[in-house]
Amino acid sequence: MAIEIDLSGRVALVTGGSRGLGRADALTLARAGADVVVADILVESDTSAAEEYGVLAQAAVAQGMVHSEATVEEIRSLGRRALALRCDVTDRDEVAAAVARTVDELGSVDILVNNAGTLDHVGQFHDQRQELWERDLRVNLTGAFNCAQAVWPHMKERKWGRIVNMASVAGTLGGFGQASYSTTKAGLLGLTRTLAMEGGRHGITCNAIVPGIIGTEAFHMANAAMNERIANRTVFKRPGEPQDIANAIAFLCSDLAGYVTGIELNVSGGVELFVF
Ligand SMILES: NC(=O)c1ccc[n+]([C@@H]2O[C@H](COP(=O)([O-])OP(=O)(O)OC[C@H]3O[C@@H](n4cnc5c(N)ncnc54)[C@H](O)[C@@H]3O)[C@@H](O)[C@H]2O)c1
Repeated sequence: MAIEIDLSGRVALVTGGSRGLGRADALTLARAGADVVVADILVESDTSAAEEYGVLAQAAVAQGMVHSEATVEEIRSLGRRALALRCDVTDRDEVAAAVARTVDELGSVDILVNNAGTLDHVGQFHDQRQELWERDLRVNLTGAFNCAQAVWPHMKERKWGRIVNMASVAGTLGGFGQASYSTTKAGLLGLTRTLAMEGGRHGITCNAIVPGIIGTEAFHMANAAMNERIANRTVFKRPGEPQDIANAIAFLCSDLAGYVTGIELNVSGGVELFVF
């Protein structure tokens, strides 16, 4: 019998699902059978948060890279139910409202992909601005905490849950010029292990994906020479594809991964290896 990833009957909430990895994750979970909520600070009908969220968010709006509602349409065309919700993961009221709407309209929340993240500044430590340090902690780390805490009672009640945190090799290896980013991604690994320990008795698993460099829109907007240097450190000498990440997430969210918890799954093309 062929083994397949079957998420039918599950409801997934993907943060930062408007573009890049989050969008690929949302579509892949839907293809595997899940109903999906795409939650992002940017939705086509409301991009007002771009002003506050800096250069990358503004470029995403200017260059037509906001796809929350379009992704939801695509998911619906697969026969799944889906919602696009404007939700800032740093705002606990907005997160609570998004989870409440998910449960009201789709019946439950079984899967959380903590994907929303910021990587829009690189600079050596002495130049790092405190307000960006604090914003990165708020979005990448506290945002994941807010979302996990909001879905936790629902998963506990149903005795089944999957939480996937999007870390980074910057969190495991450090990132030159990325003090705040790498700190938040390292912090997510502690949160992952702790939720794995506490979730076990409730049927909730929690795992981290550790991407290397993946060819998303954000990646292509970063410094090309830097991207090439990092790509050359992988064993494949190229960046990964968003689908590589989405495939790993679909597995971790399925019953096939019911005994997998607290791990850091590198989907990194071996960038952490010592490559000659
Ligand atoms: N692309 C890579 O090479 C790579 C490597 C390692 C880790 N990651 C991580 O994977 C995730 C996705 O990466 P990406 O390349 O698709 O990035 P991206 O910047 O293209 O996407 C991030 C998404 O999060 C949303 N977002 C930002 N702040 C938010 C907030 N406060 N509330 C809700 N949504 C918010 C953005 O609008 C955007 O849609 C991030 O957590 C990133 O750190 C990416």
